[in-house]
Amino acid sequence: MSREKLVLAYSGGLDTSVAIRWLKDQGYEVVALTIDLGENKDLDTVQQRALQVGAVAAYVVDGKVPFLRDFVWPSLQTGALYEKEYPLATALGRPLIAAMLVQIARREGAQGIAHGCTGKGNDQVRFDIATAALAPELKVVAPVREWGMSRDDEIEYARQHGIPVPASLESPYSVDANLWGRSIEAGVLEDPWAEPPAEVYEWTVDPAQAPEAPAYVELSFQDGLPVALDGRRTNAVELVETLNRIGGEHGVGRIDHLENRLVGIKSREIYEAPAAMLLLQAHQALEDITLPKDVARFKDVVAQQWAQMVYDGLWFSPLREALYAFVAHTQRHVSGEVRLKLYKGHASVAGRKAPEQLYRMELATYGRGDEFDQAAAAGFIKLFGMGVRTASEVQGKLSSLDLEKLLPADLKRLTP
Ligand code: ARG
Repeated sequence: MSREKLVLAYSGGLDTSVAIRWLKDQGYEVVALTIDLGENKDLDTVQQRALQVGAVAAYVVDGKVPFLRDFVWPSLQTGALYEKEYPLATALGRPLIAAMLVQIARREGAQGIAHGCTGKGNDQVRFDIATAALAPELKVVAPVREWGMSRDDEIEYARQHGIPVPASLESPYSVDANLWGRSIEAGVLEDPWAEPPAEVYEWTVDPAQAPEAPAYVELSFQDGLPVALDGRRTNAVELVETLNRIGGEHGVGRIDHLENRLVGIKSREIYEAPAAMLLLQAHQALEDITLPKDVARFKDVVAQQWAQMVYDGLWFSPLREALYAFVAHTQRHVSGEVRLKLYKGHASVAGRKAPEQLYRMELATYGRGDEFDQAAAAGFIKLFGMGVRTASEVQGKLSSLDLEKLLPADLKRLTP
C-alpha cells in the first residue's frame, strides 16, 4: 500500500521542521507549503530547509494579494476589532492558509493537511474548522497536539535527526506576522504586570522617541476600501506596507491586549499593527459622515459578532458570509477622503469629507439657521418622551436617585 500524503503548513521554524520528520516516521509523505503573507523572511531558505528535513516537495506561494483582497478588506469594511483591541491579523491569515493547503492537497492527491499548532491556542481551531468547511473529506493531522514533546525534547529530537535548529530560537518570544500585524507572546510577556521590554517591538518606535513633528496622511476610500494615499492611487499591498512604515515611525499601532482565547485561556498578547489601526480609524471616520444613524449603530453589533467569529475560527461559515452581505451593502456610499494626523504614538482624525456625506453644515450649524424648524423640536420631544412621562405618572418616579441626598446640607441661599 502506498504511503498517505499530507500537505503541511510549513513556516521553517522548529515545530514544523520537526513535524516534517516526525510525520515521515509515522509513515506519511509530507509536502511542505509556505505562504508569504508579507512577513518578509527569506522564503528560498525555508523552501530548501523543507526538502533538507525530508519533505517530498516544497511549495512557496505569495498570498499577499488574496490575503488583503479576500480576508483583510472585508474585515476592514466591517470595522472588526476583537474585544475592541485586536485587528485580527493572525486570525485572518489562517483561513487563507487553510484554503491554500486544501487546494494543494487536491492537486497533490493528498489525503489530508497538517499544521504545527498546539492544543492551547486559537490557530488549531481556525485550521481545523476551515479545512472541515472547505474539504470535509480531508483529514487534519496536528503533530504538536500528539507528540507530547516539550520545547527541549523537540530541540533534542532535532539534534538527533540532523534538523537545523533555527536561530530564532534564541528569542524567548513566539511571533507571528503578516501585512495586517505582528503578534508577540511568551517570555516575560506572560507576566501581565510586566511592561513589555523594548526588544519585543520591531515595527514601531517607542512613542516617546517618535519625531517631534507630526505627519499627515490622506486616505481615499471607494466603497469602504482604500484606493489612494496622499492623492496617489496605489495597490493594496503597497498601501498597507507604506502605512505600516509611516505609522511605525510615529509609534502608532502598539497594542497590549489581555485577551480571551476561544479555548478558555486568558493570554497576554502584544501586537504591532500600524496600517491596520490607521485604516480602521480612517474608515470609521468616513462611516461617521456617510452612514445613517441606525445603520451605523446596527453595524457596530455586526462588527462585534464578526470579530468574534473570525477569532473563533468561523471565517468559512454561513453566518459570516451573510454578515458580509449586510456589510457590503452598507459600503456603497462610504467613499471619500480622510486626513489623519500621526503624532507620538497617536493618530487622530484631522478631517473627513465625502461626495455623498450625510453631514449638512446648514443643519448642524449653531450660526445662522434658516432651514431648521426649531419650534418643531418641542413637539417631537413631547412624543419621543411620552413613554417616560406615562410611566412616571402611573408607576411613580422612575429613578433610584435620592433627590433628598443630592444637594449639600449647608447649601447657601443668597438674597438681595
Ligand atoms: N492571539 C492571537 C490570535 O489568536 C495571535 C496568535 C499568534 N499565533 C502564533 N502562532 N504565535 O489571533
